[in-house]
Amino acid sequence: MESSYSCTDRGSLNQSSHDSGLYISPEIVKRYHQWFETYVNSFLSHNSSDENILLKREHTLNVVKEMQYLTKSLDMPHIEALARLVALFHDIGRFRQYARFGTFADRDSVNHAHEGIRVLKQEGILAKLSSYQTRIILTAIAQHNRVHIRTRREPYRLFCKLIRDADKLDIYRLVLDYYERSEKEKRNSGIELDLPDIPEVSSHIIEKIMCREPVNYHELCTVNDFKLVQAAWIYDLNFPASLQRVFKQRYVPRLMATIGESRETRKLYSRLQGDLIELMNKKRAVL
Ligand SMILES: [Fe+2]
Repeated sequence: MESSYSCTDRGSLNQSSHDSGLYISPEIVKRYHQWFETYVNSFLSHNSSDENILLKREHTLNVVKEMQYLTKSLDMPHIEALARLVALFHDIGRFRQYARFGTFADRDSVNHAHEGIRVLKQEGILAKLSSYQTRIILTAIAQHNRVHIRTRREPYRLFCKLIRDADKLDIYRLVLDYYERSEKEKRNSGIELDLPDIPEVSSHIIEKIMCREPVNYHELCTVNDFKLVQAAWIYDLNFPASLQRVFKQRYVPRLMATIGESRETRKLYSRLQGDLIELMNKKRAVL
């Protein structure tokens, strides 16, 4: 499990941030939003195949909002603009990935984070930023979809933690909106990662989650496995505000309700819900 973000970390960042080059003007942020819209529009063909492109566009804009919620909760307004750009660009590789391969499954195409970094470099879009700000953005993108954060250096690690939480918060909203639809007009392979939607859960996934071990996406066998992994994301959340959002929106019980009930899933649910409450109390105490 990731360590919490402590007062000491925040204090040292607050102190140095004004002269350490994290500031980005609202005008630049606005121009990047305009570039994002133009870039996404270039992938629209105005037919039914646009659905997944529009889904990723909506996801990105919601991750920007979740990011604002998190930076506000940390009372760190000086990092807000840079964090916002991290959110805006974190999935920029998704559009070309889908256009080239027709899937969002990285294992069948490319690592979408690496693809995003290639896109930003090829478009030369980060030229308005300093090399320090560019490094922060590229590091956070590269690590947003890894099992663990690799860097221990601040403030790189902070931005990695922020994007990983903001991303997960919106994915909860997005997948539940889909899973809870009683009548699915058609299945969305983009959300289900091309996994078979059969009523089974894999015992090796349940075992790993019960041991609080991370699961790699290539170990998933069914859509239900993926739902369990999403419920277990609570162990990877870094900030009290993220855990509170998951608790208040009842994301864990709602996910579990979409999986057929069994003795194992009931046991797993009470473990996850208990751990969520414990984690909220612990992180609140640390911050
Ligand atoms: Fe992503």
